[in-house]
Formats: sequence, structure tokens, C-alpha cells
Amino acid sequence: MNQTSKNDNPNWWREAIIYQVYPRSFLDTNGDGVGDLAGITDRLDYIAGLGVDIVWLSPFFKSPMKDFGYDIEDYCDVDPLFGNLGDFDRLVAKAHSLGLKIMIDQVMSHTADTHAWFNESRKSRDNPKSDWYVWADPLPDGCPPNNWLSVFGGSAWQWDTRRKQYYMHNFLVSQPQLNFHNPEVQQAHLDAQRFWLERGVDGVRMDACVFHFHDRQLRSNPPALVRDTSTVTDVNPYGMQAHLYDKTQPENIAFLQRVRAQLDEFGAVSIGEVSSDDALEQMAEYTEGGDKLHMAYSFNLLTPVHTAAHIRTQVEEFNERVKDGWASWSVSNHDAIRVATRWSDGKPTPALAKLVLAMQLTLKGTPCLYQGEELGLEEADVPFELLQDPYGITFWPEFKGRDGCRTPMPWQASAPQAGFTSGQPWLPVAGPHAAVAVDRQDSDPDSPLNFARRFIAWRRTMPQLTRGEIVFFDAPEPVLALRRDVDGMDGVLAAFNLGPEPVSFDWAEAAQARALDTLGLPGSAAASRVTLPPYGAWLGSVPANAE
Ligand code: GLC
Repeated sequence: MNQTSKNDNPNWWREAIIYQVYPRSFLDTNGDGVGDLAGITDRLDYIAGLGVDIVWLSPFFKSPMKDFGYDIEDYCDVDPLFGNLGDFDRLVAKAHSLGLKIMIDQVMSHTADTHAWFNESRKSRDNPKSDWYVWADPLPDGCPPNNWLSVFGGSAWQWDTRRKQYYMHNFLVSQPQLNFHNPEVQQAHLDAQRFWLERGVDGVRMDACVFHFHDRQLRSNPPALVRDTSTVTDVNPYGMQAHLYDKTQPENIAFLQRVRAQLDEFGAVSIGEVSSDDALEQMAEYTEGGDKLHMAYSFNLLTPVHTAAHIRTQVEEFNERVKDGWASWSVSNHDAIRVATRWSDGKPTPALAKLVLAMQLTLKGTPCLYQGEELGLEEADVPFELLQDPYGITFWPEFKGRDGCRTPMPWQASAPQAGFTSGQPWLPVAGPHAAVAVDRQDSDPDSPLNFARRFIAWRRTMPQLTRGEIVFFDAPEPVLALRRDVDGMDGVLAAFNLGPEPVSFDWAEAAQARALDTLGLPGSAAASRVTLPPYGAWLGSVPANAE
């Protein structure tokens, strides 16, 4: 077993590593081209072998799949595409036997428009669930009540002929927004969450949790002073508004406290997805005090910007603003272009893959790895005819959506569909992915996969990296230089070259360092001179009292 039991150490989750599985694309065991729970169970040994602690499963609940499971029709059942509740129980049992914890994805903000709650709500203005969603009359000229926009394009309001009213949707038209001001809605979600906690889940990811509440007065948002390009790309007008009224409402704090109280009954943990105009502030607000979320991540490291200064600012500013809250750092997930492509100007290399893993695992905060990052997978090029993501279809060709990071995991280089399915995969296996499949990398000691296993195992022996303080040093771009310290132990120095050119620079701290050279990272230090090849990194140990 890799893990410390959650009961022995109440802060185990701060020292843990999260691994995100996107079930549709992990492993298909029944040949329908879509991954399933049995496939995940089958590969839990692989996940445990990486040395990670928590497995976050993207949604597998009953869904019409318009947003591929982020549109839920029944919060307490498994979609037949993925299996059934028995399959889920088997998955949890095996995970626990391997020392892994299971975190489910809770999409509370909205449901699918096929959910029974919405079917009832839209029937009339006076049925028992009439106030469960955000309904509003048109303005006198027939227009929607305000200027709120959907993240996925267009107005956030959709006309419904049954009630002769608009309903709100922050995402797809088919994802109506729930009205969290209604206490029954909150209770329904807490009940559904309890259902899974009682089934043995160890944690929850709170999807889109800044969207839970809307302004009751439905005030229009003002224009943004600075256009937001972290949550959405610059071809999306959503970034042109200051989102004062359609999300991040103060009432959410009390709801998150109710969630936390329930999670605490079970010793379960939470991570929030935060996309807001000031995401660091929101992460701090939602995680401090020990009575709301355990940790949160933003989109700030999921953008193409990858200067050392940007990464340093994110971590430093979060730490400055938060007292006892906790960050999780994600550099790839099912919503963003794969980091190997995004941070290499489209020229990914195995060295970059290792560099990113090492850097992510060295920052202060709980790292969250996305399936395939351990292989250094590049973004898949999915042609328009095969696109599935409605977000990409709407914004094509300037923004291609999220299919390129959601293509199937390559397991076997020479097998059809790289061993993902015996059928036709729902998204194509990317051509370049077969050559870097798990079986190929398994047998190559220098592969990103074996590097990831080594680094994660080593990190586990280094309290400096799991719970130490972090300080950054000025170094020439694109070098990120930092130190992690735990009282009474040697400090760990790390320098990461985030660029494709070699760099050499003077770092006074390095003069007293002993190289931590067991990991195979290409970089060196001679006295204070640190030399890093393209995408190289160097780690060293310095005595506790060294300045
Ligand atoms: C979150 C999910 C994303 C989904 C959206 C709407 O941002 O990560 O995949 O489309 O919420 O539920």
C-alpha cells in the first residue's frame, strides 16, 4: 500500500497526488468504443503503480452525454454506457485494496435538461419544483432579463414555451442552471452526495462550484476592465464581462460549509474547480478556515502562458492571500489543451514531459495529474468531421474545443486502437500516441512513464516537497528556481528550464548544494553555476541553515 491512512494523518490529502481518469477514454472492456468502469478497475494496478493516492473519476452518472457526462440526469445511478452500481462497488473495493482513494465528480450547478427535476420544473409556474431552476420573465421587448452569457457561447438564457419564460444556463442550453437559493435544491444535492459517501467514496470534486448561486436581482454584469483569457479563449466574448452577478455569489460560502460538514462525517475530502475573474482570491476564500473545501484549483496554469514569472506569481500570490487554505495545481485536464503541446509551442518532447511532471510535483500544493500526462501525450489533432465537443463545434476553427485532450489512452503500441478498445473508439486514437503507449514506455527506463514513477516514489520520501514552505528566486526566464523547506531538515533547491534552449545562470544557493542526482533529470551545477539543457531541471539539497 502506498498511502497513509486518512485516519492517521488528518492532512493526508495535502501530501497526496491526485490522478484524474476520464472514464470515456481510459479503457473500453465491452467493445462499444467508450471506456467503462470495468476498464478502470482493470487498470487500477497501473494507477497504483504510479504511486498516486487519489483517483478522481470524471462523471460516470446517468446522462444524455451532451456534455459527455457533465450533464447529469440521475445523480445516484451509473450510466449504462459505463456499467452499473455493482461495477462501481467493485471499482471502489479494488481501489481500496490497493490503497487508492476514489473521488467522484459532483456537478451540482446544473443538471441535464432530461433530469426529472427539470421536466417537472418547466411544466408550469406553480408545480412543486417550479422554483428549482433559474426562471425569469422576458423584458417588455421580449429580450432575456439581462446580459449574462454562457461559457459555451451566446446568451445564458433560453426561451421555454411551456412556462413562457427564460431559463438560465451557464454552459449548454441543455444544462439548465439550478436555483441554489432554494433550500430544497441544496438538500437534494447533499442527499445525493451522502448516497455516494455511504457507498465508500473518499472524496468529491466540486465541478464549476463558483456557479452555484446567481444574483437574485438578476443584475447585468458590467464590462471587464481586463479581458479574462484564462477561463475562456480570446475568441469567446464571455471573457469581456466582469462576472459580478452570474457567479461567485457570497451565499455559496454557507453551502460549501454544509458540504464540508457532511464530508467530515465520513472523513472525505473535496477539491473545487474555480473559474472566476480573480481565481486565486476565490481559491483562498473557498479553502481557508478548514470549514469549506479542502483544496481548489483554477485554470491559471491551464493556459498557454508558461513563463517562469507566471507560474511563480500564481503560487506566490495564492500563498500570500491564503492563511490555512490549500491549492491544487493542475497543468492539464479534460478541459485544456495537453500541456506537452501547450507549453512547447506545438513541439512536444519527452524532456518537456519529464520537466513538467517534476515541476508540478515540486510546487507547494496537491498535484493533480491528468491521465496520459505520465506518458507525455501531446494534444491530438481531431478533424472537424470527428469533433464531439459542442463547445469546440461552436467556436471552430479558432478554438477547437476539448476533444484533443480527451482521446483514448494508448496502452499497447502495436494493438488495434492502441489497445483501448476492440471496437471503434468514440474519438480517434491520436496517430503519435501509439508510439508512446504504456507498453513501450514500460520497457524504456528513460521514458516519461518510468521517470514519473521514480519521481513520485522519491517525492514520497521528501517531506520538504509534500509539506515544506516554498520560496522562489530570481532567475533568468524561462527558469523557475525555488526552494522547499521543512524545519530541521535540509532544504531542496530546484531549477526548471521551461524553454527549448539551454540556459546557464548563477545561483548563489547552489554553491552549497549536493546534487540530488538519482532521478535522471538532465541538469548540473558547478559551484553556483547551474546549467540546464533544453527543458532540463536540476535538484539539489542544501543544509538546513544555509542562507
Ligand atoms: C466544468 C467541467 C467541464 C464541463 C463544465 C460544465 O468546467 O470541467 O468539462 O463542461 O464544468 O459542467
